[in-house]
Amino acid sequence: MQEPRYKRIVLKLSGEALAGSGGYGIDHQTLVSISQQVAEVTEKRVEVAIVVGGGNIWRGVAGSAQGMDRATADYMGMLATEINALALQDALEKQGLEIRVMTAIEMKEIAEPYIRRRAIRHLEKGRVVIFSAGTGNPYFSTDTAAALRSAEIEAEVILMAKKVDGVYDSDPRQNPNAIKYTRLDYMDLINQGLGVMDSTAASLCMDNKIPIIVFDLTERGNILRAVMGETIGTYVGR
Ligand code: GTP
Repeated sequence: MQEPRYKRIVLKLSGEALAGSGGYGIDHQTLVSISQQVAEVTEKRVEVAIVVGGGNIWRGVAGSAQGMDRATADYMGMLATEINALALQDALEKQGLEIRVMTAIEMKEIAEPYIRRRAIRHLEKGRVVIFSAGTGNPYFSTDTAAALRSAEIEAEVILMAKKVDGVYDSDPRQNPNAIKYTRLDYMDLINQGLGVMDSTAASLCMDNKIPIIVFDLTERGNILRAVMGETIGTYVGR
């Protein structure tokens, strides 16, 4: 049997990834599909941590653009990730997986507080860990949370789930001649503003040598393909 290329991964799911075609809220079928894909990966004994965003419910940056205090708007975004984390927990449990939701903002009636060593222990026991509430700080994106948690738990790769099959030089939905990159350096993300992740997150990945695979989540089986080492999407690293 072929061994997975990566044994411990962080899957970054944006809030929009849970929204289905509607673009807002949580789509049940989408949740089921994601959960089935995660279950496939855990069958290979890959340790999976998920960092979930909240943009399908609330975007801090958008709130702030409308005049809301940025920190308040960002805290609202963190609460949105919590809603997504609970929905994801439910869907993953229905696949028979053991899940632990860990939150960066304490709310112990709902989720465990984030404790690094405990998170690692959960992973070692085969539990899927969902990291919610970003880093717990305003002004930091959930992409940065993915980079930070990856460094902390020594994940071997970040799988960045998107609705396009990689990174292009321009928006492929608007430009039919857009060219897809199969490989990029961290500095390309930072210098070219390719829209993959913000520069704080990219810098953190670069400094800690965490590779990123940007891939299309809507194509079923892609999480497993990436974990097995198949070339899909765009690889960002050295
Ligand atoms: P082990 O110690 O490795 O057995 O891990 P465990 O997570 O099974 O142990 P524990 O007895 O701490 O947790 C049992 C259940 O309670 C799990 O579903 C945890 O997610 C949950 N749990 C633990 N701490 C908290 C907390 O602070 N808040 C909430 N809401 N649930 C918690």
